[in-house]
Amino acid sequence: MPFIHMDKLKIEGGRPLRGEVEVSGAKNAALPILCASLLVADALELSGVPQLHDVATTVGLLGRLGAVVERDAHSVRVDASRVDSVEAPYELVKTMRASILVLGPLLARFGEARVSLPGGCAIGQRPVDQHLKGLQAMGAQIAIEHGYVVARAGRLRGARIVTDMVTVTGTENLMMAATLADGETVIENAAREPEVTDLAAALVAMGACIDGAGTDRIVVHGVPRLHGGRHRVMPDRIEAGTFLCAVAAAGGDVLLRGAAPATMDATLDKLREAGARIDCGDDTVRLRMSRRPRAVDVRTAPYPAFATDMQAQFMAMNCVAEGTGVVTETIFENRFMHVLELQRLGADVVVEGNTAVVRGVPRLSGARVMATDLRASAGLVIAGLVADGETTVDRIYHLDRGYERMETRLQALGARVERIDGRDPARGQGEGVLAVETEEAAR
Ligand code: EPU
Repeated sequence: MPFIHMDKLKIEGGRPLRGEVEVSGAKNAALPILCASLLVADALELSGVPQLHDVATTVGLLGRLGAVVERDAHSVRVDASRVDSVEAPYELVKTMRASILVLGPLLARFGEARVSLPGGCAIGQRPVDQHLKGLQAMGAQIAIEHGYVVARAGRLRGARIVTDMVTVTGTENLMMAATLADGETVIENAAREPEVTDLAAALVAMGACIDGAGTDRIVVHGVPRLHGGRHRVMPDRIEAGTFLCAVAAAGGDVLLRGAAPATMDATLDKLREAGARIDCGDDTVRLRMSRRPRAVDVRTAPYPAFATDMQAQFMAMNCVAEGTGVVTETIFENRFMHVLELQRLGADVVVEGNTAVVRGVPRLSGARVMATDLRASAGLVIAGLVADGETTVDRIYHLDRGYERMETRLQALGARVERIDGRDPARGQGEGVLAVETEEAAR
């Protein structure tokens, strides 16, 4: 049984950040692209794949389905020619909701798939009804049996699908399924997230015929088969934004390399509004902050508007800003779990429904806090970097799902951050938890 150690991060706050960071490949592009490898009986070669728990979980799932996966640092080669199972089991799906992304590819290539329904999640209900509705429109028979989505089809047929809301993985699942369908599929109200566009680019490299990725109307002309291909995963705009938010909150001068500033408009605009000086090159972003940030209002919405995945980090910055910032979350109904933890650090935040009013205070004071989901953890780390004294962030396995070696990269910028091994009884109180107990981590 996998064992997830309850590592913690110990942060000594109050130091500005200076230096350079290389941005990783995007988690939320890498996960769907890895699943797209199931569409072909040939090899998909990827570079820029970040080394994250969620990537390891996806690779584990592909292996379990019968794919042969070779990993070398940030390169991954998946050969799905000998896939012999079409079942994504509950143990994996409940720890990582993105596992639902195997549904479209398995159904399109093998005519059947059994994927566990993910169940509840720390940040909201997150149903997958739109994924199922779209596949049904393409001719799939779908039943829920014993907690599993059981989908069957002959060859899928092209269809016109209008999703009820903008869904990122929903758009991705349908786009992947449509690549092998008979005829043309039109996805209306499609997600415009850059990660959807990156997946489309990978699919095109595999021989798919896709127009309109990056707009809200994606047209896929189905082909009888795809072939192997190569793709470099796009830079992670959320990871990049998280580092920038940290510098805006803590002060300093940091250069991001290997970034994609063209995908980060909403974040960069808000950071400028907060008083940061920002200079972008094609793949670099330099942020300088020499003052206390000004509070900013943010409202999360689908791309290109402000990302829900940046909400907790901006809230942390607002906690120490001058003035009052109103944070409105419109995507997930339960994504303010970090508020109670920020209050333990002395933040002044009042939540009313899906709005949090953050009155900036001159200083936070370090305390022991607990991470509840990936982006909430990132917000707590930022708060720890600006708080007086010592902050310990517990349950850092949430952070490790989406950030590669966060502590060493912050150390390189001059932060005093240290990982405390949860197994070490002298320092980490010997806490540990079985992976099976970490359902609340599911994303
Ligand atoms: N929704 C439905 N029915 C569906 C699909 C979605 O009601 O069939 C609802 C959701 O409950 C939510 C909204 O639609 O209220 C949008 O959800 P979406 O489907 O877009 O989210 P997702 O695809 O499950 C991805 C990212 C999330 C990110 C969201 C929003 C991946 C693997 N995950 O999730 O990333 O927050 O889009 O941008 O791409 C993260 O990285 O920390 C993370 C949570």
